[in-house]
Amino acid sequence: MAKCLKNLINISDLSTDQMFDLFNVADSMKEILDKKKTCDLCKGKILATLFYEPSTRTRLSFESSMMRLGGSVLGFSSASGSSVSKGESLADTIRTVAGYSDIITLRHPNEGSARVASQFSHVPIINAGDGGHQHPTQCLLDLFTIRKEKGKFENLKVLISGDLKFGRTTHSLAIALARLGAKLYFASPPGLEMPDYITNQLKKDMNVIPSVSHDLKEYIGLSDVVYMTRVQRERLGEMEYLKYRGSYVLSEKTMEEAKKDTIILHPLPRVGEITPNVDKDPRALYFQQAYNGVPVRMALIAMLLGVV
Ligand code: CP
Repeated sequence: MAKCLKNLINISDLSTDQMFDLFNVADSMKEILDKKKTCDLCKGKILATLFYEPSTRTRLSFESSMMRLGGSVLGFSSASGSSVSKGESLADTIRTVAGYSDIITLRHPNEGSARVASQFSHVPIINAGDGGHQHPTQCLLDLFTIRKEKGKFENLKVLISGDLKFGRTTHSLAIALARLGAKLYFASPPGLEMPDYITNQLKKDMNVIPSVSHDLKEYIGLSDVVYMTRVQRERLGEMEYLKYRGSYVLSEKTMEEAKKDTIILHPLPRVGEITPNVDKDPRALYFQQAYNGVPVRMALIAMLLGVV
């Protein structure tokens, strides 16, 4: 299975079998992480992290993953610290860094950039977020967390909420969950609805038509999973951002409407969508979710390098 996967650009690049294989490998990786240990599966291998946009979780968890696998990392955390600031193209940067590394993870503001990068690289490319398009590795850790907590996807009621227009994590997650048989509920402020190209794909490829609302509270009570997201300030004008900021907030009061076994996820960072007093609620799993990014990315790196 592992050798068949060359890059991870879209969540649809993974078959369902490959996804479950990855989760099984991630279970083993989590045992290593939980014990704060390392292994030498990727000894002598180098991961490049090329981040043209800010990141805390994705970049650092990728770096942590490669270190736990016994490999090394290099890269940049902003375009300004690299020759991109001198005008170097993505293609030339990728051609160069592919010679310095064994695998590349790329975050870039342009939709489709990871696909372009894969055309100029002889080493695997992992999409760590391309504009408002996709974030497949976030999706994998979201799914891994849901699987750990709920043990299934079939008929699970999942509410995906917030900025669905620009929230790339929601695009990848909706497509994957639909494929896995979950029931989808979308709640977003008017103007930030799920893009047509995603809803069309859900209907055309999976015959899934999500329930849609502009009211966060409408589906909270029936949901098994509530997936909150922030308004993507970096993809909106400032006036638009101010209009949407604070429109959806999950508070202790809102949590009273959720079921006892509902889990609350958020890809983070949060910027006010979940009040801090929700953190102590045992249903709030977003920091566990962020932790799960390491074993999932360890598994992905190992699969793409063909060492598992
Ligand atoms: N979830 C996520 O992509 O977080 P970062 O932007 O911190 O990487």
